[in-house]
Amino acid sequence: MPEADYSKKEKNFYTDIPAEKGSFFLKGLNHYDWGMKNRMSSIFNPESGRTVMLAFDHGYFQGPTTGLERIDVSILPLLPYADTLMLTRGILRSIIPPTYQNGLVIRSSGGPSVLKELSNEQIAMDIEEAIRLNAAAMAVQVFIGGEYETQSIHNMTRLIDAGNKYGIATLGVTAVGKDLGKDAKYIRLASRILAELGVTYVKTYYTEKDFDTITAGCPVPIVIAGGKKMPELDALTMAYNAVQQGASGVDMGRNIFQSDAPIAMIKTVREVVHNDLKPNEAYDMYQELKNS
Ligand code: R5P
Repeated sequence: MPEADYSKKEKNFYTDIPAEKGSFFLKGLNHYDWGMKNRMSSIFNPESGRTVMLAFDHGYFQGPTTGLERIDVSILPLLPYADTLMLTRGILRSIIPPTYQNGLVIRSSGGPSVLKELSNEQIAMDIEEAIRLNAAAMAVQVFIGGEYETQSIHNMTRLIDAGNKYGIATLGVTAVGKDLGKDAKYIRLASRILAELGVTYVKTYYTEKDFDTITAGCPVPIVIAGGKKMPELDALTMAYNAVQQGASGVDMGRNIFQSDAPIAMIKTVREVVHNDLKPNEAYDMYQELKNS
């Protein structure tokens, strides 16, 4: 587990050779049309080539998550500091001002809640609705190795087909779950499968070991999820290590909105992601902002 690749030859990801990007600033997307590139430029900052996606779609399967009980109170003040929002269409319509101008990544798969088998998702939004809401990307969860693997891949490929027709990106999200892996071998496999099947970019998890082989082996941009709340220094260190090893940014939720000082945290994460601020300096910055 998990790679059924029987070659005895050691794999070589040439992590020291950056991928050729062509004239567009994001890896692997040079051959897309204008609309797709324009939407991706509303998610990623064309100057740094990276993004801080603010994720608060957790309610789509777990209801009022801690920190998201009142999105109007806790999340709206963070909007000016996010490059893009990762959210559900319900929250978009009910709470986000339509004057918001950055990219929107809308959760487009769903179904089961925390009370049921989580991997049994289906497509949860059609392409007309994505166009109506001015989505830059549709996010779909994929359960590689899970019981509903094929169904989730089918959800993803249907969204890719619809999205490509209209120049809307598809963000493939590698799922976590008790039967799914979390090491580099698994994440490499899952990310690559999503990219091979056509996602515009991938969201996955940082691995302490060999993360650079994951980004090198994936022909399109990768952003990392923040995961469970951890001490601020650890979250900033993870973000730093990820971008240094080829991630194109973060899709961070709980480590921002569950922080003691969410505005200080998102401002600091921005410095790490866009300006390569080192973890200890970043932590000092966070403390200063928090106490000011
Ligand atoms: C979870 O419901 C979503 O996929 C989140 O967008 C993702 O996990 C990022 O949020 P966090 O940083 O809290 O893991």
